[in-house]
Amino acid sequence: MNRSILFGMESDRTFGIDTVTASNTLLRKLEQEFGSTAVLKGSTVSGSFIEDWSRDRIGRCLAVVRPKTVQEVSRVVSLCNQAGVGIIPQGGHTGLVGGAQRLQADCIILSLSLLSTIREIDPDNMTTTVEAGVVLQHLQSTLSDQNLEFPVSIGAQGTAQIGGLVSTNAGGVQVVRHGMTGTHVQGLEMVLADGRILSSMSGLYKDNRGPDPLRIAIGGEGAFGIVTAACLRLTPRPTCSVTAYVGCADFKAALALFRDVRAGAYECLTGFEVMSAACLPLARLVDPDLVPPFEASVHVLIRLSTAARLPLEDMLQSLLADAMEKGVAQDVVLAQSERQAAHFWALREGLVEGHSKRGYHVRSDVSVRLGDVPQLVVTLETMLAEEFPTWISQAYGHMGDGNIHFNALPPLDLSEEAARDIGRRIEARIFENTLALNGSYSAEHGIGRTKAGWFAKTTPADRVDLLGRIKTAFDPGWHMNPGCLLAEPEGQI
Ligand code: LAC
Ligand code: ZN
Repeated sequence: MNRSILFGMESDRTFGIDTVTASNTLLRKLEQEFGSTAVLKGSTVSGSFIEDWSRDRIGRCLAVVRPKTVQEVSRVVSLCNQAGVGIIPQGGHTGLVGGAQRLQADCIILSLSLLSTIREIDPDNMTTTVEAGVVLQHLQSTLSDQNLEFPVSIGAQGTAQIGGLVSTNAGGVQVVRHGMTGTHVQGLEMVLADGRILSSMSGLYKDNRGPDPLRIAIGGEGAFGIVTAACLRLTPRPTCSVTAYVGCADFKAALALFRDVRAGAYECLTGFEVMSAACLPLARLVDPDLVPPFEASVHVLIRLSTAARLPLEDMLQSLLADAMEKGVAQDVVLAQSERQAAHFWALREGLVEGHSKRGYHVRSDVSVRLGDVPQLVVTLETMLAEEFPTWISQAYGHMGDGNIHFNALPPLDLSEEAARDIGRRIEARIFENTLALNGSYSAEHGIGRTKAGWFAKTTPADRVDLLGRIKTAFDPGWHMNPGCLLAEPEGQI
């Protein structure tokens, strides 16, 4: 197959009459079968379908189709396959790499939002079977009533949907304890490019009858098929939780603190997040009351939680007293109520929105081995200060996972156009410096469309080729989320 790799750019294809006719016929068929309320076109396609959560990009599409059942998804996919029209699957549209957005209007957006049934909660098996469109927060509150938890926690949980979480293998603030979304996936239901519905949702903990090929969809970004439901492993709902807000002198001290808290509270350590001082004013753009309890160079949030009967508060207090004595921690506040703990976490979780409110900025999602985090932050901060001195660096993220979001804010008097231009160079320097430390330029957000060029350019050719051949096995016409993750071969949609 002749593959032309489009380094991060969208292809500039012009469509012939045949393509237009095929698309029109497809839309007519979809409207006939599903009714005009399920097929949105023209001016009815707006808001979150085309604009992503961070308001970074505006996508385009032929139409938005909203099936209600897996059988309807299968039918939509078959019709698109027959017409040779690409499909962009979309959940809550909270991703940060353009995975659910295409800039050309040549595909349909397949919204999974109406597949919103929690099919089963099995407390003995500690699993739940959930459709793709179920919103994470709704799942969490439903499980909480049964003293259960699906232990993935992300800032966008009020909007993000299960299908998207699985397809992007979402991370969040509890990965240090519970791992990424994929860790909890017991089985999947998927619609393949030809419309076939496959399921591996037996709910069995042990089933070694060969590998489950559907697992390629975990982090597969919709490029291998459409996740319509997932069987997820659950944990007991924590009955006790404590949060501490800690000030450290630098990221090196924050790493030392992490090592000590991990050693002393291992199974109970559910969150360890860091923010450089420059990030804090951004949280105030979301809510002026989001003020930290003290000033510090590096702000650290620690959460211990457990369903076991353990004296967590004493445990954390004693670990932090030791840290103060060693000089690893400079200031410590233990949240005195759930309300205060929620306030501390809101400071951290408000940052994505705060950055969006500030306007265009460079966003990144880089990771290195845990011991290299201080070096990574110093390297990136130095790079920005020396090469782009008018930009403001923002380092925050998941210290416990070696994952830092290193963002850069442009000077306010720079036009957006000029800032985007310089921003592309800054992003390249962030990625280059991270790769030089043997790190990753996508720790948890995925590749999507914004990093597809980097993926093609920096991933060993044999690995890209193998992934491409697996994709072809699942999706021979390359109709599933074209241009996302893997660049499109020439001549394909
Ligand atoms: C966060 C998003 C950016 O950690 O991943 O806030
Ligand atoms: Zn993150």
